Amino acid sequence: MKEVYLTGITTSGTPHLGNYAGAIKPAIDASRRADTENFYFLADLHALIKNTDPAAVQQSRLEIAASWLALGLDSEKAVFYCQSDIPEIPALTWLLTCQTSKGLMNRAHAYKAVVQENEDSGSPDPDKGITMGLFSYPVLMAADILMFKAHKVPVGKDQIQHIEMARDIAQRFNHHYGDFFVLPEAVVDESSAVLAGLDGRKMSKSYNNTIPLFAPEKQFRKAIMRIKTNSQEPGEPKQADGNTLFEIFRAFSTKQQADDVRVRYEEGIAWGEMKQYLFEHLNSLLNEPRERYVELMAQPQEISKVLDAGAEKARQHSAPFIKDLYSAVGISAFH
Ligand code: TRP
Repeated sequence: MKEVYLTGITTSGTPHLGNYAGAIKPAIDASRRADTENFYFLADLHALIKNTDPAAVQQSRLEIAASWLALGLDSEKAVFYCQSDIPEIPALTWLLTCQTSKGLMNRAHAYKAVVQENEDSGSPDPDKGITMGLFSYPVLMAADILMFKAHKVPVGKDQIQHIEMARDIAQRFNHHYGDFFVLPEAVVDESSAVLAGLDGRKMSKSYNNTIPLFAPEKQFRKAIMRIKTNSQEPGEPKQADGNTLFEIFRAFSTKQQADDVRVRYEEGIAWGEMKQYLFEHLNSLLNEPRERYVELMAQPQEISKVLDAGAEKARQHSAPFIKDLYSAVGISAFH
């Protein structure tokens, strides 16, 4: 039996190096193996949680779709689709919601972080600004994963808790209704899973510290040059591990290349020189995909066609499965 890989990217914002390292690269690598089946999608329903600007959501859907294809996803082999094109996913979300304990959701890091912010700011309402979308975000994500019986889910470290929640929810459903769901596992590549951004914190849209994947070359170079470094002088030996420039380099290089750069840190490479080196390295990797990206962005209808075909393939799984699930919970035709 083939191993099923599945991952999604929330369509809010412009795709950045962190998306590539954490999800797209491991997912595309997995899709080139003969022993895997692959479901990769745009999490556009998740995008609505924090984003009420329709034009921004739409633009991001296009950019993220174009990025996957430009970076070499073979949409003939992988099933590549939009979450919103699969009506069975929101249907499954409800079935799972009815099996999800509220206490489990109370423990979600993303939810707790907002509650903490409210408390820190002295607000009398700890749930200020928190929608049910944000609160039940992990249930929708569980539906994404469980619908396609995924075994492996390539994600950044920050998403591990959500995968564990999907397992919990699946187990409870299976316990009540029979063995319907596969229990998924997160796949986290230690060397590249959570990239730091411009300011040294995790590269994330929410921190506004991302390095866009396909910015024009000049802008891309500028972003790299803006990465924060410390005041160590040229010639001073430097610590490679944990350094933002090094970690980004490592996420996109072979072990040998990374080891070579490690030596240069020990020899005291200047930050400016390292930035230039990192820029050249990434630029040579991204040059061709960037050209394809620009071409794809100019043909949005072609991207729609690819996604429509992907949704059709995905629904060959989801449509019969939701029927079985409805039937399992006691909703089916009368005979
Ligand atoms: N929550 C993920 C993120 O923001 C995106 C996502 C949605 C996802 N559904 C998923 C990732 C299912 C993996 C599997 O990065």
